[in-house]
Amino acid sequence: MAVLLSAEISLAGNPLAKERIEPPGKERPSIPMSEAEKEESTLSITVVGASGDLANKKIFPALFALFYEDCLPENFTVFGFARTKLTDEELRNMISKTLTCRIDKRENCDDKMDQFLKRCFYQAGQYNSEESFLELDKKLKEKEAGKLSNRLFYLSIPPNIFVDVVRCASHRASSTNGWTRVIVEKPFGRDSESSGELTRCLKQYLTEDQIFRIDHYLGKELVENLSVLRFSNLVFEPLWSRNYIRNVQLIFSEDFGTEGRGGYFDNYGIIRDIMQNHLLQILALFAMETPVSLEAEDIRNEKVKVLRSMKPLKLEDVIVGQYKGHGKGGKSYPAYTDDPTVPKDSLTPTFAAAALFINNARWDGIPFLMKAGKALHVKRAEIRVQFRHVPGNLYKRNFGTDLDKATNELVLRVQPDEAIYLKINNKVPEIPDAYERLLLDAIEGERRLFIRSDELDAAWALFTPLLRELEEKKIFPELYPYGSRGPVGAHYLAAKHNVRWGDLSGEIYE
Ligand code: BG6
Repeated sequence: MAVLLSAEISLAGNPLAKERIEPPGKERPSIPMSEAEKEESTLSITVVGASGDLANKKIFPALFALFYEDCLPENFTVFGFARTKLTDEELRNMISKTLTCRIDKRENCDDKMDQFLKRCFYQAGQYNSEESFLELDKKLKEKEAGKLSNRLFYLSIPPNIFVDVVRCASHRASSTNGWTRVIVEKPFGRDSESSGELTRCLKQYLTEDQIFRIDHYLGKELVENLSVLRFSNLVFEPLWSRNYIRNVQLIFSEDFGTEGRGGYFDNYGIIRDIMQNHLLQILALFAMETPVSLEAEDIRNEKVKVLRSMKPLKLEDVIVGQYKGHGKGGKSYPAYTDDPTVPKDSLTPTFAAAALFINNARWDGIPFLMKAGKALHVKRAEIRVQFRHVPGNLYKRNFGTDLDKATNELVLRVQPDEAIYLKINNKVPEIPDAYERLLLDAIEGERRLFIRSDELDAAWALFTPLLRELEEKKIFPELYPYGSRGPVGAHYLAAKHNVRWGDLSGEIYE
């Protein structure tokens, strides 16, 4: 049907993007340094929890990629810190297994890897021992050789030891003449109180400016591109309100269960794992007013306003689900509760759908539907914007009675195969991995993509009462088969708000 104006533009090598549009505040290098300054300063990145999964799968590879792209300063060292006793060589062996070069740029990959690994060192120690951090400090100083020292600590550790590490690091291993920054990964608490408590504890040792709360979804290409899309394409901003938009859907689905992560997951559940952070951050960026500037604080101020304008989330606007086991094509799929690290009677949701509303002039009455689930039929994350029906549509006959088919839909597919289904002036992808981008931001002191504490408080304030009610009332999650499209309840929830999930209706660009 030719009337629909959709056309899929793949971001990779988009021929329409004549000019590269830098995302806000991303002109790199951000502050040009003189040659003398470059020589005089050093950067040490300490990955605390170096033997863990996140460090090996994401952080070391991201650091190597940054090195490969010449994005790290001239004098840098990487330190692994963990309890396991390892030599520098053993650390290098361990991380070399996960380092890869970009597919399109393989030149000198092995040389580059060797050069990178030579800059990696290891310090074993206890997370709550000031002595261990003193040892680390000694080694850092050796490498820094009297130069101005900037130190970045990446806390790739469970949250119950964040504060110990921060205390020890700030007392014993802070830089004395440069900056010290700490990147922390979620979970930032389990609810408003525990998150507030964590922030209070961290702030005994660090200022807000030193804390970089990472939400890796904010580093994803398409999420970063949201502001570029809205604020540099005249065609979108006038449409960006209740006047033209009927609903917005934020969808996250994974085609695998909690395999191996049940212990962590059962304590948190899908609402805390995905909705309260990744999806809510996207929502805030999507819905915010035009910021005064592209400076971090201006953007974060606008995001907080959205979060604080949100209508309290009610139990009746949420459905929860949990995957159950089943057999299909000779293969058997486990139930969530088959995971040996999950209690057999667990009520933890592995799926949730929610209808959220923003009580402000721009979005009043417009449902923002979120859906997040594990063990579903596809792995995908996307934002779907459904526009209102065309009044008096001349082509009504072609659509029959189903006007939803004629709705304009702007789909931003965050992953896989990043795409925007509309002809747009679009940004050329930059660094593809979220961790690389965010690590570099932290190094450069760019806070825009990190979560400020009042943002975090507002995000928890939205979900805490709901989570409490779900847990107190022991709401039973609706069971859905592993590999299915999720619980039927999600359809009823959407229908209640006059919405049909865009990802479940047949469409041209699936
Ligand atoms: C993490 C969640 O934050 O994000 C995981 O804890 C989830 O449960 C992951 O699998 C998804 O990230 P990505 O980048 O693979 O989409």
